[in-house]
Parts: sequence; structure tokens; C-alpha cells
Amino acid sequence: MKNKLGFRQKIILSHIFLFVVFIAFAFPFITKSVQRIVFNSLHVSTSYLVNLLEKARNEQQILTLLKDADDYIFFHVSLFNDKGEVLYDSSLKQVTKRESINPLTHSEVVDALGHKIVYFIGYNKQEAEKLAYITLPFHISNQTYILRTAIPFSQMHEFTYEFEMWFLAFCFLAMLFFAAITWLIFHRINYPIQQIIRAIKPYQLGVETVINPIVLSDSIDEKDQFYQLAQTLNSLSEHLRLHIKQIIDERNEKEAILDSLGEGVIAVDAEMHIRYINFMASKMLRLSKKDVLGNVFTFVSEETSSANLLNKCRQLLESCQRKRALLTDSMIVINGKKKYIDLIAAPKNHRSGAIVVLQDKTSHYKVLEMGKDFVANASHELRTPITIITGFAETLQDLPDLPRDVVMEITEKIVRNCQRMDSLVKNLLTLADLENLPPSRFTECDVVAIVETCRQVVLSLYEKAKIHVEKSEESILVAADPDILELAIINLLDNAAKYSSPPAEILVQIAQSSEEVSITIQDKGIGIPAADLEHIFERFYTVDKAHSRRLGGAGLGLSIVKTIIENHHGVISVKSEMGVGTTFTILLPKLKRIVPI
Ligand SMILES: Nc1ncnc2c1ncn2[C@@H]1O[C@H](COP(=O)(O)OP(=O)(O)OP(=O)(O)O)[C@@H](O)[C@H]1O
Ligand SMILES: [Mg+2]
Repeated sequence: MKNKLGFRQKIILSHIFLFVVFIAFAFPFITKSVQRIVFNSLHVSTSYLVNLLEKARNEQQILTLLKDADDYIFFHVSLFNDKGEVLYDSSLKQVTKRESINPLTHSEVVDALGHKIVYFIGYNKQEAEKLAYITLPFHISNQTYILRTAIPFSQMHEFTYEFEMWFLAFCFLAMLFFAAITWLIFHRINYPIQQIIRAIKPYQLGVETVINPIVLSDSIDEKDQFYQLAQTLNSLSEHLRLHIKQIIDERNEKEAILDSLGEGVIAVDAEMHIRYINFMASKMLRLSKKDVLGNVFTFVSEETSSANLLNKCRQLLESCQRKRALLTDSMIVINGKKKYIDLIAAPKNHRSGAIVVLQDKTSHYKVLEMGKDFVANASHELRTPITIITGFAETLQDLPDLPRDVVMEITEKIVRNCQRMDSLVKNLLTLADLENLPPSRFTECDVVAIVETCRQVVLSLYEKAKIHVEKSEESILVAADPDILELAIINLLDNAAKYSSPPAEILVQIAQSSEEVSITIQDKGIGIPAADLEHIFERFYTVDKAHSRRLGGAGLGLSIVKTIIENHHGVISVKSEMGVGTTFTILLPKLKRIVPI
């Protein structure tokens, strides 16, 4: 059972206990001592009385002296002559008959006649109790007398009892006195301890995060050990406070660094409790930081939508701790979008847990996939005209006598497919070129002049087309590579004419604000389905493959346009409605804002 007594109570109780033990041991000793004192005082009084009686000249005087002494003595007195006759007995007051008792039967009287002092304890039938006797002989005028004094045990017990009561009262008062003194001394000693405890208490209860400075009352001297203890605790808590602050600062710094990482990081302890999770990991796993911290990993993983990824993390964390080795894995997560995640798990030192790092490699894999798609698309686009050309060339070879108009038709198809291949290769080279566009090619160009040139080019291809240009000013300047900006606008005008039923009606608007220059190309053509709008800037993307191919397109034009505009720090957007028309808008930064790259 827990001891609930305070230190002060324990001290007081131990005092009481010691007093009780002391009284228990001292009591028999005290009783014995009191009896001895009473007996000694009987002895001394007897000797004194004998000395007094020896001064008498005759028996009569002895009796007178005894009667006088009777007033102040506390014991029984008897006087005998050498024949054993009782001459005086204080209990009888007056002796009438000398032979009323036969004291010779009393050995103490007989022994006293032998000139010696006798101590004797005997039972007095008359008084029906035990008595302690002293007999002492003395001589007057050659006559021997024996003085016998006696004290009843009941009287002795009365003395003892009275003394014992006094002794107990004294002990009790002494105990009270000592308890009070101890209480006061302890209070004085304990006061600074209480002050120290009071100062530490809020920290112990968790109300404060640091120990408040301990301030002792002025009455405590600087040399006092408690004062020094308080000072030591103060400097210790200050030292701890600084240390804790430093640790917290370092931890915050590390957390900020980890939170700013593009990789997700999760740390667990040996029992798989989540000890840390950074911003990116909580985002990837769709977990709220505060919900998972301190929880067991398995518990967390069963409850979320990213259960597969979490399970993979858990497996890796467990195995890397078991094998004491760095482990890697990767997986595809489909959570709305398809994501490629690489996982690296490493055990912490001293078997204190493990860390898993999650890397989102989606863009990396996307680039690889795009590369693969690009090669497949380019090969496919090149193979089609080659197949056609080969077929027609073989026909010409096998049938040299074909009529002239058929030969003309075949050669025309061969030339068209050659042109298509040529334009395709040119476009591919342009795209490759655009990736490595040198900054030196940027010059001050007039967009109005560039649009006019493009208009002429497109009109030469689509003679019936109507291209109307509206401009806010006669000259609008941008920093650009004029040749490739021209290429972009030609591509857009070409699409506008190509995907309109002839004669195409195209409106080009050029305007500038304080910040940017806008070029809008609007047609009244077939329009683009809403579902295709977000894909049309991708390489080799065509809404209707057969239609585009018939018109000689391979789906590279808009991806070239987008790359060109982005190289010029601009943006391109599209709006379209099926059967109504399509509008492309290019926004380019104004010249003053361009910093040559
Ligand atoms: N103004 C437009 N009106 C209707 N559809 C358009 C228009 N511009 C582009 N498109 C659609 O977007 C697709 C992609 O255009 P893009 O210019 O990239 O390729 P293309 O014109 O088919 O071929 P290329 O330009 O390589 O010769 C086209 O196939 C077409 O379906
Ligand atoms: Mg095109």
C-alpha cells in the first residue's frame, strides 16, 4: 500500500513511537526505583528515630518521644523490649497488655536482638496485607530495645502509583513539547523546500513547458544550502530550457526542409508507430498529418483510399527492419490519375525503426512514354507515304506501257506523297530545332508585318480564302524570332483555311495592352469537339485521322505552334464550337518586358 503520510507527519509519529517505547521500557524500572526510594527513606527514618530514642533516659521518655514522632512519620512503628514484649505500636495507639502479641515468634525481632539490622517482608494477618519491615536494636541504661518500622505494600503502591502518574504526565508534556519543537524546526527547514516544489509543480503537471525560476524568500541567507540548491536548479533549468529550444529549432528546421522536398518521407519506430510524415507523403497518401502521427501503421493503412500504396510502404518498412538492409520497390497507383511511385526504405540505427521515401516518377515515365509514342507515330507517318510511293513505282515498273493519262495520275500521286513526306520531315526537324533555340535569334519584330507576310503565304495556297486583318496600331513590336513566329501564324492560318469549307473566312485581330500583345485567329470552319480540345496541342494528335491525312496533315502543326509560343514566353489558348468556328488566341509579352535569353 502506498504510504500517504508526509515527511512531517512521519517525524512526529516516530517521535510518539519513541516516547511510547521509552515509557514501556522505563516504567518497570521507575516502579522498582520508587519502591527502593521508599524503602531507603524508611531505613533512614528508622535510623534517625533510633538516634532520637537513644537520647532518652528511661522507657517512659522513649514512649513519649515515640508518640511525639507519630505525627510526622508515614510508617508503622513498634517498640519491643528484649523479652519480645510490645511496648509501643503506632497502629494500636496504646498498648494495654504487654503480652498481647508474641513477637518472639517473629524472626525479625529475634534477629534484631542479635544486635543487627533486619529487613523483612511479611504478611500481617491483622491488617491482611503484605508489609516491609526494618528492625533495629538500641540500648538505654543496659536495657536492649528493638524498634521495628513497617510500611504496608498498599502504601508503597500508593507512592509508586502517584509517582508513575507524575512520570507519565511529565513524559506526555515532554512529548508534546518535543513534537511542537520538531514541528517548528521542520517547518523552518521545510519552507524553502516547499517553495522549490511550488516552483517546479506547474512543469510537473504539464501546465508549463519550462521550470519557472525559483525565488526563495528574503529570510533565506545566500549561504543557506537550500538557497544554493535553488540556484543550482535555476541554472540547470535555464540550461535545459536553452537546450530544449535548440532541439526544437533544429527539429523545426529539419521539418521545414523535409516538408519542402518533392519526395514523401515517412519515419516509423520499431513498433511501426508513425513518428514523422512530411507534407508530400501526406499528400501522396491522402492522409492528414495530425491524424496519423503516433498511430500504428497497420491501423492507418486499412482506413484510407490509398490503401495499396500504404500497404506497400508498410511491407517495405517491415522487411527492411527485419533484413537490416536498404530496400527499393516501385508501383503504379491509380487514384483518379495514373502515378508511378518509386519507394526506398532504409532501417534506422540501433533498431529504432525505419524510414521510407516515396518518389513520384510520373513525369519521368511520361517523358519516356512520350518518346516511345513519338518514335512510333513518326515511323508510322513516314511509312504510309513510302508504302504508297513504292506501290505506284512498282506499278510503273511492271506496266511500262500504261496510257499516258494513267501514268500522269500515278506520278502525280507519287509527287504528292513525296511532298507530304518532305513536309513531315521538315516539321520534325523544326520541332527538334525548337528544342535548342538560341537566344541570339530574338530580335525586335513587328507583329503586324509578320501577320501580313503570313496572310500572303496562305492566300497563295488557298486562293479563294478571305483573310481579314484588324490591328489596333500600325506597328506592334515584340521580341521574337521572326521566321519561327511566322511559322506559328502560318500554321494557324493554314488550319483555319484547311478546316473550313471553301471559301474560308478568317479574321485576324492584333492588339496590345500595357502588358501584352494579343493575336487572335478566328475562322468559321467545322470546329473542334470539346473532348478533343485539351489534346490538339499534343504531337501527332488529329481529331479525324482520315480527314487530316486526306488534307496532308500529320497532327504536328499545333504542337509546333505551342512550342514556338512558349519559347517566346507567351501562351496560346483555343475556343471552338462545332459547326460555328474556332478561335486561337496568342498572348506575347510586350517588347519592353522582354529580357533577352
Ligand atoms: N481551325 C481549326 N478548325 C477545326 N479543326 C482544327 C483547327 N485547327 C486544328 N484543328 C484540328 O486539330 C488537329 C491538330 O491540328 P494540327 O495542326 O496539329 O494537325 P494537322 O493540321 O492535322 O496536321 P499538320 O498541321 O501537321 O499538317 C487537326 O487534325 C484538326 O482536326
Ligand atoms: Mg495543321
